[in-house]
Amino acid sequence: MNNYKRTLVTTALPYANGPVHIGHLAGVYVPADIYVRYLRAKGEEVLLIGGSDEHGVPITIKAQKEGTTPQAIVDRYHAIIKSSFEEFGISFDIYSRTSSKVHHEMASEFFRKLFDAGKFVEKLSMQYYDEQAGQFLADRYITGTCPHCGNERAYGDQCEGCGTSLNAMDLIHPVSAITGNVPQLKETNHWYLPLDQYEDWLKQWILEEHKEWKGNVYGQCKSWLDNGLQARAVTRDLDWGIPVPIEGVEGKVLYVWFDAPIGYISATKDLTADWEKYWKDKDTRMIHFIGKDNIVFHCIIFPAMLKAEGTFILPDNVPANEFLNLEGDKISTSQNWAVWLHEYLEDFKGKQDVLRYVLTANAPETKDNDFTWKDFQARNNNELVAIYGNFVNRTLVLTHKYFGGMVPECGQMDEYDKQVVNEILAIVTRVASNLETFHFREALKECMNLARLGNKYLADTEPWKLIKTNEARVNTILNLSLQIVANLSTLTEPFMPFSAQKLREFLHIQPIAWKKMGADVLSAGHKLNEAGLLFDKIEDEEIQKQVARLESIKKLHIKPA
Ligand code: MF3
Ligand code: ZN
Repeated sequence: MNNYKRTLVTTALPYANGPVHIGHLAGVYVPADIYVRYLRAKGEEVLLIGGSDEHGVPITIKAQKEGTTPQAIVDRYHAIIKSSFEEFGISFDIYSRTSSKVHHEMASEFFRKLFDAGKFVEKLSMQYYDEQAGQFLADRYITGTCPHCGNERAYGDQCEGCGTSLNAMDLIHPVSAITGNVPQLKETNHWYLPLDQYEDWLKQWILEEHKEWKGNVYGQCKSWLDNGLQARAVTRDLDWGIPVPIEGVEGKVLYVWFDAPIGYISATKDLTADWEKYWKDKDTRMIHFIGKDNIVFHCIIFPAMLKAEGTFILPDNVPANEFLNLEGDKISTSQNWAVWLHEYLEDFKGKQDVLRYVLTANAPETKDNDFTWKDFQARNNNELVAIYGNFVNRTLVLTHKYFGGMVPECGQMDEYDKQVVNEILAIVTRVASNLETFHFREALKECMNLARLGNKYLADTEPWKLIKTNEARVNTILNLSLQIVANLSTLTEPFMPFSAQKLREFLHIQPIAWKKMGADVLSAGHKLNEAGLLFDKIEDEEIQKQVARLESIKKLHIKPA
C-alpha cells in the first residue's frame, strides 16, 4: 500500500511459559522494533503492539510439570518476558496479555459474532481421551510419530521436526503427554471455521494481490492453498482459556490460535480509546512480524477470521523470518539449548546493542541462520569496535584536540570531499529503501559502509599530518567527518538505540529528522560534549565462558550410541 495514513505493527505474542531467547529477538522483535523506530524517525504515525499469549496447552503443560497453576505460570513469565523486551529497547506502545479482561471480552464478542452469523460449522467427532487423567488430549497433550517426517515427538497440532501443521488423528502411535498411556477415542462436539469456503478468496488475495510478500511467506501460503484447505476446529475440551460463549456449553474453551491473534486487537484497545481507527480505517496499514512457524495462522487462518467478521482490516504484509539456530543446532527451550535474554544481560551488562547488531547482521531473513559465540565476538571486535566505534572515536578525539570540541567551518570542498558528500546521501537513501522493504541486514550493512567510508576518508586525508601545514583543510576534513558521525547517530538508531543515544550525547544533539540527513546536519561553532567509547572489546575469556556453558548443556543431552 503506497498511500497510507498510519501503520499498525504487531509482533507475535510469545507463550508465557518460559523466558525469551535470542531466536525470538532475531526473528520477530528486533526487526519489528527497527521498522517502527525508522517510521517514527520519519515522523509517521505508527504503533508497535505486543503482549503475552497466556492460553493454550503450552501453558497448562508447564504448570503441570511444575506442580503449580496456569495463572502462576503466566504471571511469572509475563513479567520476565516484558522486562527482557524493555531491557533490549523493544519500543512497544503496549505490551499486553491475553488473560486481560479487555481481551476476554474482545475474543468472546468476536466468536459470538461469527457464531450468530452462522459462520461456524458444528461437528461431532471422535477425539483422543485419556481415561486416567479424565481429559481430552488436545494439541500438545498428545504426541506421536509425524506421518510426514517420522519425528517421534510430534505434537497433536504440529510437528516441530518438519514444521507441518497436524491433526491429532494424523499421528502414528499416539501417546498421552500427561500419563504416557495409549489414548482412547471419545465423541465430542466442536465448532469449526470452514476454511475451504475462503479458499478462492484467499487465493485471489494472497497469490494474486500480494505477490510482493517475501518468497518464504508467499511460498508457504501457495503450498497450503494448492493442497486445499479444510475446516479447522476453533474450540477445545480444556479448562484453561476463554470459555466458549454459547449458553449451556461447559468445559470448552476457544482454541488458543483463535483467541491469540485477536489479542492484537484487544491490546490496541487496551492502549487507546481510539483503537478503531487502527483496525477499521482502510488507510491503516497492518504489518505482522512473526516467525515461520506462525505463517499459516497469520496469512490464512486469522485473515479468514477477519474476513468472516467483516469490519476489520487485513494485513498488508507479513514479513516472517526463518529460524535462528545456536551453534549449529536448533534452539530448544525444553533442552535449554538457547541463549536466554535475561542471562545474557547478567554476563554482558549494557551490551544490548551488541546483541541487536549481531542478530540483525546475521538475521534469518531468507533462510535459517546460525548464531555462534565466535561470530558474536568477531562482529563486536572487528566491526562495532574496529570500524564504527573507531571512526567515531578518532573524529571526536581530533575535534577536541584541534578545536576544543567545536565543530570547525567547512571550507572549499575538493573533488574527494564532494564525492564523500554524495556518498553520504546515497547511503541514507539505500538504508531507507532497504528498511522499507524489510531488508534489515542489508540496511545495517549500508550503515556500516558509512562508517567504513569515514575511516577511509580520514586515512586518505590524514588530518593529523596536515594540521601543522594546512589548518584550513583540516577544518573541512573534520567538519565533513563530524557530519558523517552525526548521520550515523540517526541511521543506526533503529538498530542500536542505546549507542545512538550515547552518540547523540557525545555530539550534544537532538535526533535529526530523517529528511534533513546529509552533509549539513551540524553547524560550525556547535560545541560537542566530552566523548567516551561507544563499544569495547570482548575478550576470549568471556566467550570461552559461554561456549563452556553450552558444552555442558550438550553433555547432558548426548544420545547413547
Ligand atoms: N504464542 C504463539 C507462538 O509462540 C504465537 C501467537 S501469535 C498470535 O508461536 F498471533 F497468535 F498472537
Ligand atoms: Zn514432521
